[in-house]
Amino acid sequence: MKILRQDAATILALLSMLAPAGAALAQAGSRLDGASPPVNGVWVDSLDLGKAMGGRPPRPGLAAFGGRPARGDTPAVPDAPITLGGTVYSHGLGVTANSELWIDLGGKAKRFVASAGIDDARRTGSGSVTFEVWVDGAKRFDSGVIRAGQPATPISVDLTGGKQMILFVGDGGDGAAGDIADWGGAAIVMADGAARPTTTSPPSEPMPVIASSSTDAPRLNSPRVTGTTPGRPFLFRIPVSGKGPLTFAVKNLPAGLKLDSKTGIITGALKQAGRTAITVTVRGPAGTATGEITIVGGPHSLAQTPPLGWNSWNVWGPMVDDGKVRAAADALVTSGLAAQGYTYVNIDDAWEGSRDANGEITSNEKFPDMKALTDYVHSKGLKIGIYSSPGPRTCQQRFAGSYQHEAQDAQTWAKWGFDYIKYDWCSYSEVQATRTGMPPLPTLQKPYRLMRSILDGLDRDLVFSLCQYGWGDVWTWGADVGGNLWRVTGDITDSWTSMSGIGFAQTGHEQYAGPGHWNDTDMLVVGKLGWGRTLRDTHLTPNEQLTHISLWALQAAPLIIGADLSQLDTFTTNLLGNPEVLAVDQDPLGKAAGRTRQQGRAEVWARPLADGTMAVGLFNRDLVAQTITVHWSDIGLSGSQPVRDLWRHEDMGTKRDSLSAVVPRHGVLLVKVGTPKRSGNR
Ligand code: GLA
Repeated sequence: MKILRQDAATILALLSMLAPAGAALAQAGSRLDGASPPVNGVWVDSLDLGKAMGGRPPRPGLAAFGGRPARGDTPAVPDAPITLGGTVYSHGLGVTANSELWIDLGGKAKRFVASAGIDDARRTGSGSVTFEVWVDGAKRFDSGVIRAGQPATPISVDLTGGKQMILFVGDGGDGAAGDIADWGGAAIVMADGAARPTTTSPPSEPMPVIASSSTDAPRLNSPRVTGTTPGRPFLFRIPVSGKGPLTFAVKNLPAGLKLDSKTGIITGALKQAGRTAITVTVRGPAGTATGEITIVGGPHSLAQTPPLGWNSWNVWGPMVDDGKVRAAADALVTSGLAAQGYTYVNIDDAWEGSRDANGEITSNEKFPDMKALTDYVHSKGLKIGIYSSPGPRTCQQRFAGSYQHEAQDAQTWAKWGFDYIKYDWCSYSEVQATRTGMPPLPTLQKPYRLMRSILDGLDRDLVFSLCQYGWGDVWTWGADVGGNLWRVTGDITDSWTSMSGIGFAQTGHEQYAGPGHWNDTDMLVVGKLGWGRTLRDTHLTPNEQLTHISLWALQAAPLIIGADLSQLDTFTTNLLGNPEVLAVDQDPLGKAAGRTRQQGRAEVWARPLADGTMAVGLFNRDLVAQTITVHWSDIGLSGSQPVRDLWRHEDMGTKRDSLSAVVPRHGVLLVKVGTPKRSGNR
C-alpha cells in the first residue's frame, strides 16, 4: 500500500477541478500541508463530534473500526488512520453507515471538500455506502452507492449562503455491516472573518400526537383470539379497559372453563378441542361493551396472535430478581397495559442456580421461590416466561444451560408453573462436531426439535420462543421445528440504526408468519432501559418510537416491552397501549406486512386485516420531513376510501386513489384504509 500523508495534495487536486471558485481556492490551498487546513478552512474533524448521530461515534483522523467490537461484529482490528486508495489522510472522519453530522454554518461558509469512500482496510469486504451532503434541507451531493474497493470520490459542494449542512453516510440499502466509511480530508472553507462552524443537533420536532390509551367507557381490546391444549391449565384475562368497577359476563363459554365475573379472568381446562366464539359483555359506571373472543382448543394452538408482554433483559439484564418481576406484573396491571392485552411477564437470563444431586436445575438466590412467583403472576390473570439455552451454558456464560438436561428442565419449568420458554442457542456450537462455520441445517434444528417434542409431552402449555439467529434463515424453518416465534435478528439496541436496521430489513419474511408462528424482531426499546446498568430513557426520539411500534405492529411481531414498567411516562403508556395500533398487531388474520413501495428513504408497508380493510404505514427514513404517498393500487384498493389515523384515533375523511402526507424525519403515519366488510373476528 502506498502510504502518503497528503490531505493537502488531495484537496489541491479537488480544488483545481472546481470552476469558477476553483482557481482562487486552489491558490488558497497552495499553502496547505498535512497539518493545516486551506486558508479560511476548517477541518471537520476539528469540530466537536459529540453531537454526531448514528453508527459508531466518528473518530477524527481514524477509520471507524478498532476498539471493542459490538456483539456479533467482525473481530476488532487495531486502530488505523483513514486510508483511501492507498492514500493516508491525517484529517477526516471515520464513520459507519447511517452516521449524521449536523453543522451550523452561520450562512458564512463557501465550500465543503472531501474525498470519500470505504476505507482500504475493508477494500475486499461487502460494504456499500452512499455519501450525501445536505444544505438547508436539500440534498446537494449524492455519491450513489460506493462499494468496497472502488476509488475514492471527490466531493466539492458550494455552501454559499447555507445555514445548516448535514454530512450523511447511508448504508447503500443493504444494512450497515462492513460499512467502514471515510470522509478523507474533509474541510469547510469559510468566508473571510467568519466564525468557525459548529456542530449541532437536528431541530427539535413537535411531539407526535397520540391518543390516550385510557377511556372511561368499557372497551374490549385485543387479542380477540386465544388458544389452548384441551386438558391443560387455561388462563385468560379478558382485555378490557375502562373505569371500574367492571363486571363481566360471558355467553357460550366452552365446557371446562369458568369466568370470575369481577376480574374477567377465565380459568379451568378445556374439555374438548374446537373453535368457540364466546360473547363477552362488560359493564361499568360509564357504560357497557360487548364483543366476541374466539377460544381455539387443540394441539399446537398457542400464540394465535403474536405474544404481548414484558421481558426483563433490556431493563435489568443480569440484575433481574424476584421483586423486579413481581413489580413488572403489578405495573402491567396498574398502567392499564394488561387491560390492553399485555400478558406475558418473562424472566430472561440470570435466574439459574446450580443443579442438585439429581441434576435438577435450581433457581439462584435472586429467585428464592419460583412457584410462589408464578402463583403471584397468575393471580393477576397474567402469564410468566423463563429462559434457557440448549448449550451447556446460557448467553451470560456463567449460568447453566439445558444441554443433556432438556427433559428434566422442561419438567421443572412446568412444575414451577411457567407458560413460555425463550430458548437461545449460546454455547450449543461447542457441543457440535462442526465448531466453525455455519452448522448444517439439521444441527441448527436439532435442539429445537428435541425441546419441541419434550414440550409436547408436558401437562402444561408453554409458548416456544426460539432465540436462534445469526445462522441461516431461521424464518424459513422456525415453524417447521415447532417454534411459536423465532428471533430473526441479533440483539436490538435503542438506536435509530439498530431499530430501523432490523425493522426495515424484514420484507420478504412476512410469508413465514401466521397464527401460531411469528417472526420475532426482538424486544421493544422504548421507555426506561438499562440492560442491568443505570436506567435511562430510550435514545429513540418520539417519532422513532412511533416508527418502532408501528413497524412491529404491521409486521405482526411479538410486542415484548423491555422497559422498567414502574416508571412509564404518559407518552410511553399511550405509545404501548394504543388499542387501535395493538389491534393491527393482534389482528386475527395474522397476515404480516411487507414493503409495498420504496422511493429513496420513503417506504410504505401494508397488511390486510380480518375485517377486509388494510393497515398501512407511511415511513420516512430520511434526514428531514418528506411528503410520502401511498397509491391505493399498490395495496389492492381503488376509488375513494375512508382513512383513519390509528395513532390519533382520528378519521381523515375519504381519499381518492391515494393518500399523501408530510411525514416527519424518522416518523410514520399509520392508517387504516377501507370500509370493513366483515367482523374483525375469525
Ligand atoms: C442473548 C439474547 C438476548 C438475551 C441474552 C441473555 O443475547 O439474544 O435477548 O436473552 O442472550 O443472556
